[in-house]
Amino acid sequence: MNTLRIRDLRLGFKGWSGAVEVLHGISLHIAKGERVALVGESGSGKSVTARIVLGLLQSLRSTRLSGLVEFDGRDLSKLSERERHALRGTKMSMIFQDPTSSLNPVYPILTQFHEVLRRANPAIAVAEARARAEKALADVSITDPARALESYPFQLSGGMNQRVMIAMALANEPSLLIADEPGTALDVTVQAQTLRLMREQVERHGTSVLFISHNLGVVREFADRVYVIYKGRIAEQGPTAALFGNPRHPYTRALLDAVPRITGEGIPEIEDASEAYFAPTVVHEGYGEPEGVA
Ligand SMILES: Nc1ncnc2c1ncn2[C@@H]1O[C@H](COP(=O)(O)OP(=O)(O)OP(=O)(O)O)[C@@H](O)[C@H]1O
Ligand SMILES: [Mg+2]
Repeated sequence: MNTLRIRDLRLGFKGWSGAVEVLHGISLHIAKGERVALVGESGSGKSVTARIVLGLLQSLRSTRLSGLVEFDGRDLSKLSERERHALRGTKMSMIFQDPTSSLNPVYPILTQFHEVLRRANPAIAVAEARARAEKALADVSITDPARALESYPFQLSGGMNQRVMIAMALANEPSLLIADEPGTALDVTVQAQTLRLMREQVERHGTSVLFISHNLGVVREFADRVYVIYKGRIAEQGPTAALFGNPRHPYTRALLDAVPRITGEGIPEIEDASEAYFAPTVVHEGYGEPEGVA
């Protein structure tokens, strides 16, 4: 079964100056244990897609939403706000770009970890929370977990905070982890280390991942499959190696060409927008969406 199945998802925001359409019917799926990346330029609709999966846009008055979002076989639109709330932090969790701002500065790590564990197990005692947190921090290679638990986020480095975030995000054994630009606030070596760690952890737990990034280098290392999104439409999708090795959609090609080469060939000239970028979705052989809209 797929952990996540999205069919023909459309989203618009109503504002003072009328409605703007942000997603124009996107479809994607993530199988159990699969790592799927969503890549595309700024404003293309990556984060709003994540927020819909997390159930955060459904109850906003200003949104117009249609299409199917199915998580672990359940249609999210059929769940109540309370049921969607109960899924967050338990069955689905999220890692954000900047760990320091998503951890609460006024509580030590242990308190925050306890809070996370309590979402899945309200009766959990401090002693048990501490034991589980210590183990989880050791799993993400934090050398002195006991000390880290007593620390406030500002007492830890950015890389350590990111590890804490990864440990917390996986603490309740979610079926889906959403990572929206994880670690882009870190320097590249720490970012690479934490991504490797995150991959190890999700492999060990069999967690499905929706990985959002515009860094094609890290996507190539991390993801099994890639969806390229352009202005709210899927431009191309396929297995990572096939898509990077043989990009067929004009927008994917432009996106790949836009990556500055470390060999110093200068910043490439890319057209900002082109009619060609709206060409139909390219699907690599054998990787289409599973049939049927429930
Ligand atoms: N609450 C909102 N109200 C109105 N428009 C919004 C709202 N949230 C997002 N948008 C618009 O939706 C579009 C997609 O935004 P989104 O945050 O998903 O982009 P993104 O692909 O994540 O970009 P980035 O790479 O910069 O994070 C943007 O044009 C944005 O302005
Ligand atoms: Mg975003």
